[in-house]
Amino acid sequence: MKTSSVLVRLPVIALALAACAPAPTPTPATVVAAPATAAPTAAVMEPTVSYTLVTGGGTGKLNFVGRGGDIDGQPNPTLTAQPGDVVEITLVNGDYILHDLAIDEFGVKTPQLQNLDETATVIFHVELEGEYFYYCSVPGHRQAGMEGILRVGSPAPAAAEGASIVHSPSDLPGPIGRRAPQVVEVELTAQEVVGQLADGTTYPYFTFNGTVPGPFVRVRVGDTVNLTLHNETSSTLGHSIDLHAVNGPGGGAVYTQTLPGETHFFSFRTLNPGLFVYHCATPSVPHHIASGMYGLILVEPEAGLPPVDKEFYVMQGEIYTVEPFGAQGAQAFSMEKMMAEAPEYVVFNGAAGALTVDPNMLQAEVGDTVRIFFGVGGPNLTSSFHVIGEIFDRAYPLAALTSPPLTNVQTVSVPPGGAVVVEFKVDVPGRYLLVDHALSRLERGLVGFLMVEGAEDPSIFSGELTEGSGH
Ligand code: CU
Ligand code: CU
Repeated sequence: MKTSSVLVRLPVIALALAACAPAPTPTPATVVAAPATAAPTAAVMEPTVSYTLVTGGGTGKLNFVGRGGDIDGQPNPTLTAQPGDVVEITLVNGDYILHDLAIDEFGVKTPQLQNLDETATVIFHVELEGEYFYYCSVPGHRQAGMEGILRVGSPAPAAAEGASIVHSPSDLPGPIGRRAPQVVEVELTAQEVVGQLADGTTYPYFTFNGTVPGPFVRVRVGDTVNLTLHNETSSTLGHSIDLHAVNGPGGGAVYTQTLPGETHFFSFRTLNPGLFVYHCATPSVPHHIASGMYGLILVEPEAGLPPVDKEFYVMQGEIYTVEPFGAQGAQAFSMEKMMAEAPEYVVFNGAAGALTVDPNMLQAEVGDTVRIFFGVGGPNLTSSFHVIGEIFDRAYPLAALTSPPLTNVQTVSVPPGGAVVVEFKVDVPGRYLLVDHALSRLERGLVGFLMVEGAEDPSIFSGELTEGSGH
């Protein structure tokens, strides 16, 4: 999917010009043919802001080009006004092609101009804050690019809605069990998706298979993985994959630089057990990673992992937006903030607070043994992964599954492009918080809930509940 326009078409506003005190008639706009000075109503509709737009403007394109002032030379400039202004727009034919200028909400439309340097002026009153399209109503011209915005006041950006890109933490394949090495087919598709980043806020994600993180790939040591990477035809960029489980140049990236509409294939044998990050490795690599192109591949050791009651898949990433955390509307990627390693959002499984709402909260029952496969896509921040209210009975730091685990650990450090496996038993019911103990990041959307149901055990945990713990 291509990044959708930032603009949301506002509802048509019936602007009663009668409200504009000096206007003698209900005509929604004053339309006069050149010369503008001949306008009979110019005296009562004294413009407070004036703009001149030249069709084509010497660019050889179908557009409006600003003339004079701040908009000089700009194609389809954004015109601004304040509520209460009387706006004057003068249209100049700059290309011998038939054009006009219309703004539906204000009932504004110039006569059609055919000849070079012919001009027409519209004068109208604006009151309601909002963003309005000006465009050429000659068939096909608006679609070809003759469209711009008149912004009145500083309207709050409309809340934006996007696709859900959150990968459910309980969506992962079960244990491999004891079996001989085999050939495993893995198919991934690079998909560019305008997804929900936070309430009222969207971001142009890059994903594997439409979710962040991508699919949890589960194989055993000795397996041969046949990996096919498609890139959707609708993509704007090339994509690829580097799996840290691979022995070979680029982790596969050398074989998988895949343009929109293409498919590439490569094969690798899993020589090392462990939990590994995979990610897109197409420049700018950190941009692709920050936009969501990462996931985990578990290469089980020969005997597999000890059985547990619940397994979960969680990854941490950063999102760099031009506007600050919490801004409404469609957000754009900020290269500057990425280079400064100063994300606006830090997220588990792709979106702010993604794992704090149904159906994406982690669920367990008292007495369950829980295993979390946790990885950091990054691209830049190291996570101090911690579960508030729990202690990791076993932790495999750096996801070194063939080394003995550490026991009784509070917080594990997980580098970008790295992972950890933690295991613990939940003893009492309640809500447990997954965090990065660099807790400023919690204020940037980085928190998840593990909900545990079952009987209380006062011999382990008891007291009087107090207000305001935030847990
Ligand atoms: Cu990519
Ligand atoms: Cu890597």
